[in-house]
Amino acid sequence: MMTTTPSTASPTSVRALFDAMSYGPAPEGDAPARQWIEAHGGVFGHFINGRWVSGSAVFDVFEPATGNRLAQVAQGTAADIEAAVTAARAALPAWRALSDHARARWLYALARGIQKHARHFAVLESLDNGKPIRETRDIDIPLVARHFYHHAGWAQLLGAEFPGHQGYGVVGQVIPWNFPLLMLAWKVAPALAAGNTVVLKPAEFTPLTALRFAELVQEVGLPQGVFNLVTGDGTTGAALVEHPDVDKIAFTGSTDVGRSIRRATAGTGKGLSLELGGKSPFVVFEDADLDSVVEGVVDAIWFNQGQVCCAGSRLLVQEGIADRLVERLKARMEHLRVGHPLDKAIDMGAIIAPVQLERIRSLCAQGVEEGATCWQPSWAVPTEGSFHPPTLFTDVAPSATIAQVEIFGPVLVTLTFRTPEEAVALANNTPYGLAASVWSENINLALDVAPKLKCGVVWINSTNLFDAASGFGGYRESGFGREGGREGMWEYLKPVPAESGAPAPVLDPAGELAPVAASGGEESAIMPPIDRTPKLFIGGKQVRPDSGYSRPVMGADGRLLGEVGDGNRKDLRNAVEAAHAAAGWARLAGHQRAQILYYLAENLSARAGEFAARLSAMTGEVTTTAASEVEAAIARLFTYAAWADKYDGAVHDVPLRGVALAMHEPIGVVGVACPDPSPLLGLVSLVAPLVATGNRVVVIPSERYPLAATDLYSVFETSDLPAGVVNLVTGARDPLSRVLAEHDDVDAVWYVGSREGATAVERASAANLKRTWTEWTPRHWRDPRMGEGRAFLRRATQVKNLWIPYGE
Ligand code: NAI
Repeated sequence: MMTTTPSTASPTSVRALFDAMSYGPAPEGDAPARQWIEAHGGVFGHFINGRWVSGSAVFDVFEPATGNRLAQVAQGTAADIEAAVTAARAALPAWRALSDHARARWLYALARGIQKHARHFAVLESLDNGKPIRETRDIDIPLVARHFYHHAGWAQLLGAEFPGHQGYGVVGQVIPWNFPLLMLAWKVAPALAAGNTVVLKPAEFTPLTALRFAELVQEVGLPQGVFNLVTGDGTTGAALVEHPDVDKIAFTGSTDVGRSIRRATAGTGKGLSLELGGKSPFVVFEDADLDSVVEGVVDAIWFNQGQVCCAGSRLLVQEGIADRLVERLKARMEHLRVGHPLDKAIDMGAIIAPVQLERIRSLCAQGVEEGATCWQPSWAVPTEGSFHPPTLFTDVAPSATIAQVEIFGPVLVTLTFRTPEEAVALANNTPYGLAASVWSENINLALDVAPKLKCGVVWINSTNLFDAASGFGGYRESGFGREGGREGMWEYLKPVPAESGAPAPVLDPAGELAPVAASGGEESAIMPPIDRTPKLFIGGKQVRPDSGYSRPVMGADGRLLGEVGDGNRKDLRNAVEAAHAAAGWARLAGHQRAQILYYLAENLSARAGEFAARLSAMTGEVTTTAASEVEAAIARLFTYAAWADKYDGAVHDVPLRGVALAMHEPIGVVGVACPDPSPLLGLVSLVAPLVATGNRVVVIPSERYPLAATDLYSVFETSDLPAGVVNLVTGARDPLSRVLAEHDDVDAVWYVGSREGATAVERASAANLKRTWTEWTPRHWRDPRMGEGRAFLRRATQVKNLWIPYGE
């Protein structure tokens, strides 16, 4: 808040400080980012075939907040593009031939790498682009990581979800400067997940986070040539677009360049997706909640200094409230703060470059010339660097230049309307069609207007919402193609050519991963082993069985391998209670559940050798077979981490003016009796789909080989799995299953065992008519076609249909 209220108190008194309430500086340190630039001598080359290659010429990159030079980067030539495309082509066959799981692991490694260096990326981005650290730290970089996680999931599910399809091949990607690393993520993550190799050209204004990303690619050891980076300006971009050996071009930037790329690629057979500009309407009806609207406008047009393709740059207000809203907006604008992007307490940072600042200023001048009224807050923006104040235009004619042209700056134009029909006509009065916001407390009205707007995204009572799971892209001159979600994956896939035969075979998930060397198994002849009798796992704690009895576990060689607790009815009751207490699990976002499943996979992987040795000792399988069971279990955890945010519902076509939303909900608390064959993989295959979809489970591990499950306790404990989500009670399978089937607070039972046991479960389930899934014929758990997928997810969920009629 800025105030000039006079005060008679001493300037250091509490009263004076309270009256002034001025902001002190809250700078984020930039030393690590600057040291990183210095460590490279301030000069960067291209990243081609896994190596750094210096360019023949360099150009300067400036810091928008100060105008000072930040670094020098190579100006890519046609020869550099040639080298990068050649490297991507050479890397393609091996990358494409990898198993889905292996590719998922690479994407996962990139996601983790981004998270580990999140602040470094955020500071570097703010320095290079001028956007507030609050945005890079809390929006850009977390969304980048989210994108790689989400697409690690699509990589994992590629064969199952996109059968008969494969990546285009070599993909050329050209991105803009407004969200430098986020646009990289939107492009690179789906391309790699779909099995393409990539040549990326970042924007000339903002190449630094892309260069740091290339370093990360090197650090995680991505196979060379899979990701290549060539820096440079529009001529470098054009060379990439025109290269004959590129199979697909993905571009985000201005509509003019997008048009020229459409022309350049026409008739070449290259795939193309274009995400271009916009002049998105922000429609406010008179019954809207005006306080929310004001904050919505701040996010719509002053987020990232208005340099957002889907910025809500046209405020369309119903006539009766226009004056009131404009007054409130002006009051709010007086309190916005513009300043150094690394100050944590500012709202707006710097404009990308003097040329862009000049463009914004000249469009504003044109607005005034054409008769509109321009309003800016009373305070001044910093004079050093490229800053522009938040700006509001009223009295704007719909045909005025500022109402039609994308200004790409913090400039809002206001128009008014009287009726919903007029609002729709005004909203659609643009050649663009990227996004729109609709504000009304009347859901009927909002949902009636939304489908009439010609654009790719509509936000109701909200704005600028993005997520990796939901497609983003435009209609009309805003381009075509979608980024994010299942629809975004299709942009990077094409049918497998007929001559290359049948659809890709389903690979053993452990496929070409090196077998994990099993360790252990040799007991010391001198010292007796320390007893590790496992207990039960209930409510996140290891507890002794109520019975006070243990059961022996015999090895394949007939020797006693260990003992486990003999669970009973009381233990199961406690476990069911703990599972109910963990109801919050169902309310987590799928992404959060995915994170924990990935973490479980990671921790299981760290101990793969130990688990393989244990399996081998119990079942008598050779260690390499046991090791491949562990790898398959890790892959399966990846599968359901992938699914956690993708098992979408649907919108049903019902004979009504409205929508029926089919939403997947978890069943609740589910009892699970696990098979003896593949004791680890069987358990994971049953438990993972249930927990991925928000259920809590009470598990009876394999009766014969329970140690594979009890060894998991410590994996659960180190993987942030909330207490009570997974509970394990070892013991006699059939009597324990019957107890679960009879329990009124258990919502479903999955049973794999004998026919008699299955019959008993189904009979007992009649009491509260719980859902059951029973099986007594053997299942090939290792085959992903049998052991995972939609069949499991369908049984783990139930559908709720939500009907929303609309229309005035
Ligand atoms: P631009 O469209 O020229 O640049 C975007 C990217 O395309 C950059 O990497 C650039 O080097 C590359 N490029 C330029 N010419 C090319 C060509 N002929 N072939 C291939 N690649 C080419 O955008 P610019 O000049 O940075 O900004 C101008 C205006 O574009 C802005 O004022 C804004 O209106 C709009 N814009 C829209 C964006 C969006 O997200 N939709 C992003 C950036 C700019």
